[in-house]
Amino acid sequence: MSEIQPRTAYDLLGGPAIDKLVDDFYDRMETLPEARELRAIHSPDLAPIRRILKLYLYEWLGGPKGFSTERGHPMLRARHLPFSIGIAERDQWMLCMNGALDAMACEPEVREHIRTAVANLADWMRNKPEEPAPGQG
Ligand code: HEM
Repeated sequence: MSEIQPRTAYDLLGGPAIDKLVDDFYDRMETLPEARELRAIHSPDLAPIRRILKLYLYEWLGGPKGFSTERGHPMLRARHLPFSIGIAERDQWMLCMNGALDAMACEPEVREHIRTAVANLADWMRNKPEEPAPGQG
């Protein structure tokens, strides 16, 4: 009996749509004044990270495993430890990603699935003990 595999988010979207999402995400990071601090901690040339995030998302969404083949185990949190990531950095990252997701042509369920999963991942990436806001501690 043949086994029917459930379709993955990668199957539903396809590689070109993921490429477009990532390019839109980094275009927003380059241009939005609200994402200035996030842009500043990235390399001056975003071309390499554009390519790597595409590979990462293909794999994370159930597609080809080019990220692991090229870069080994994802260990995403460990890879972000050199950068100071707090609430502000997380929110700037999600601002760019939410804009790119909103502009993506796809089923709303797929979009919301990705939005929730990526927001959890972005929150998990935080590594900076937050100072209490002025007057709150
Ligand atoms: C929460 C806020 C986040 C910040 C501030 C942040 C920041 C960064 C920075 C500064 C780099 C290095 C890029 C460069 O060299 O120019 C990086 C790499 C990377 N980020 Fe993030 N990131 C965040 C969240 C995420 C999330 C949620 C994902 C996945 C959905 C992600 C995926 C990646 C990947 C795949 C790399 C490349 C890692 C490698 O070297 O193989 N990041 N990130």
